[in-house]
Amino acid sequence: MALYKLLINGKSYQTEAEADTPLLWVLRDHLGLYGTKYGCGIAQCGACTVHLNGEATRSCMLPVSAVGASKVTTIEGLSKNGDHPVQKAWDAVDVAQCGYCQAGQIMTAAALLKRKPNPTDAEIEATMSGNLCRCGTYHRIKEAVKVAAKTK
Ligand code: FES
Ligand code: FES
Repeated sequence: MALYKLLINGKSYQTEAEADTPLLWVLRDHLGLYGTKYGCGIAQCGACTVHLNGEATRSCMLPVSAVGASKVTTIEGLSKNGDHPVQKAWDAVDVAQCGYCQAGQIMTAAALLKRKPNPTDAEIEATMSGNLCRCGTYHRIKEAVKVAAKTK
């Protein structure tokens, strides 16, 4: 066990953990940040996506010891009042069905638009296809990313 200091959503946290504990478990079990979800645990579904220094990152495969001084952003910290352009577009398009995958989808989409403010259809598909949705909301996800790109 070691003590880890983490910068998450602009706040400092510290927690004791084994070096190989995934960041996802630290967020959920140590810090009570339950918005980030567990899906597969092997970096294949995207449910656990957070931002690490602004880059979409799968927290289920990221050991807490590898986070260091990087800035972590979770769905709770994406915006103050749920009013990030991607969150507003998600509401406008009514994307979510069961909702389980959606925090990861939104974090992936937000990182995409930061990197590429006006992505092509192919770029949206290439990025978002890595995030699985058992409810099949893919068409609405694509539409919402386009709405967010226009309105941000
Ligand atoms: S839970 Fe991390 S990618 Fe599936
Ligand atoms: S909305 Fe149900 S898994 Fe995506």
